[in-house]
Amino acid sequence: MVIEIGGYNFYVVVIFVEKKKEGLEQGQSLSEEVVIKGNLNVIMELCLRRGFLIPTAEIYGGLAGAFDWGPLGCSLKNKVVEFWRKLFVRGEDNVFEIDGATVLPEAVLKASGHADHFTDPVISCKKCDESYRADHLVEEKLGMKGEGLSPSELNDLIVEGGLRCDKCEGELEEVRVFNLMFKTNIGSIEGNVAYLRPETAQSIFIDFKRIARSMRAKLPFGVAQIGHSYRNEISPRQAIIRLREFSQMEVEMFVHEDELNDFPGFERVANVPIRILTREQQQEEGGKDEGEVEPVEATAEEAVSRGIVPNKTLAYFLAKEVLFFEGLGIPPKAFKFRHMLPSETPHYSSGNFDLEVLFSFGWTEVVGNAHRTDYDLSNHSKFSGEKLKIQHGKDMVTPHVVEPSFGVERIVYAILEHSYRKDGERKWTWLKLAKRIAPVQVAVYPLLKREQMPEKAYKIYRYLKDEDFDAIYDDSGQIGRRYARADEIGIPYCATVDHETFEDDTVTIRDRDTTRQVRVPVKELQEVLKKLLNDEIKFEESGNPISTK
Ligand code: GAP
Repeated sequence: MVIEIGGYNFYVVVIFVEKKKEGLEQGQSLSEEVVIKGNLNVIMELCLRRGFLIPTAEIYGGLAGAFDWGPLGCSLKNKVVEFWRKLFVRGEDNVFEIDGATVLPEAVLKASGHADHFTDPVISCKKCDESYRADHLVEEKLGMKGEGLSPSELNDLIVEGGLRCDKCEGELEEVRVFNLMFKTNIGSIEGNVAYLRPETAQSIFIDFKRIARSMRAKLPFGVAQIGHSYRNEISPRQAIIRLREFSQMEVEMFVHEDELNDFPGFERVANVPIRILTREQQQEEGGKDEGEVEPVEATAEEAVSRGIVPNKTLAYFLAKEVLFFEGLGIPPKAFKFRHMLPSETPHYSSGNFDLEVLFSFGWTEVVGNAHRTDYDLSNHSKFSGEKLKIQHGKDMVTPHVVEPSFGVERIVYAILEHSYRKDGERKWTWLKLAKRIAPVQVAVYPLLKREQMPEKAYKIYRYLKDEDFDAIYDDSGQIGRRYARADEIGIPYCATVDHETFEDDTVTIRDRDTTRQVRVPVKELQEVLKKLLNDEIKFEESGNPISTK
């Protein structure tokens, strides 16, 4: 099934058995089995060695819960962000993007509820002061669900389970609540409290009135934001999965409460299949590991009509997320939505559907989808005294909000784990990155460092750079080593200048995924690479195939 959104053609992998053929006829192989060959250690080793990530302040011993993006990581992240922007902002009729300040006055976070409710349960060791997230401790040490339990419930479990400090075996204190926001002070006078924003969403709510007016917006309309958020996590962990500073991409979609089921454009995604673990499944299969329960599969349309998803606005975003994640190369079976249980639902939400990805360490939330109702606008209106309403027909209304909230670092990590390959044919590991997000699109090599090959290769490389390709030039070491280095960071194509180039002005192009090679005239190289990168031609048809045996 092909769906066109935001200028992209999406080949939706239909996961229902009876429709499987339809998906495969498009010549796509996205439905390959989910085999995760990477794990946290190998992915992080690769990321640090090849410049995807750099531990923040590494030369001073590092800063827990913070990473800098290195050159390759930065390029990969930017491409993911750009793909998201194209799909969720520019490809939409009615979504506006803003870029708000990351420091917000206390009043904003009081009104939003974060100052009082944005907390995690923490427990510390009486002897060595080590702190733990109490719910995580219960999950890890007692194998019980800890999220959503009250501090006293967690305390009882910890005492009954006889848990002690992991580090020094010391006795643990009582569980207490800890606010996750970073607090600061504005200016030189103490008491002018502000916080680093814990989510990008709040600027959208406080800017609502001006955005609506300046853009002459009519319901439904959305406001998007991409930027940093900060949470003073008790135990940051799993590399870039739980950080203290991270990036979010959020849309607040403002919709009249009575029109949540009339979302314009829904028909474009109505047939997109989505996989959802329902609340009922989780309650019925409570004892089972999450991965053992097969999610319900339904199209977006069916999910709403069967009452699995409460409205079409929310279903619209879930369907678009399916397209986004498949477009990033995450296999369809490696992600699903989970309807969060009431005890896990954030304070501002009347219902959450988390998109979870299967990682080597289990299923983990990567996108939160919330029906925030009119909670935020009403509260900001009450606390600020400003009317945050909008004209809708004859009435002034406070719209409801549906919010998809994406974590950039988790998405990038999911891409890395799911594209990591280690197979028998190659002696090295490689990344099967979706071409649209590969940090480097093409590497240009001289076969040898003599006979004018470097000069010719460098000229081709410069030409490709000037034509806006993400290209690199590399002439060090043997050609096999250069291919290995390129594969390791997922470069889709390598173009090599050799003796023949000086006879017929052609170069070889090597395909990362198959390691096959074709010969292409230099004057057609740019056009051929463009078509290959946009999947407009098959590799075998892009030039004269050559045998590499
Ligand atoms: N505005 C709603 C909101 O912030 P959330 O579920 O708390 O919802 C959304 O966060 C996404 O942000 C998560 O799904 C996750 O991908 C990312 N995220 C949240 N906390 C994070 C952390 N400490 N480190 C890295 N990413 C995080």
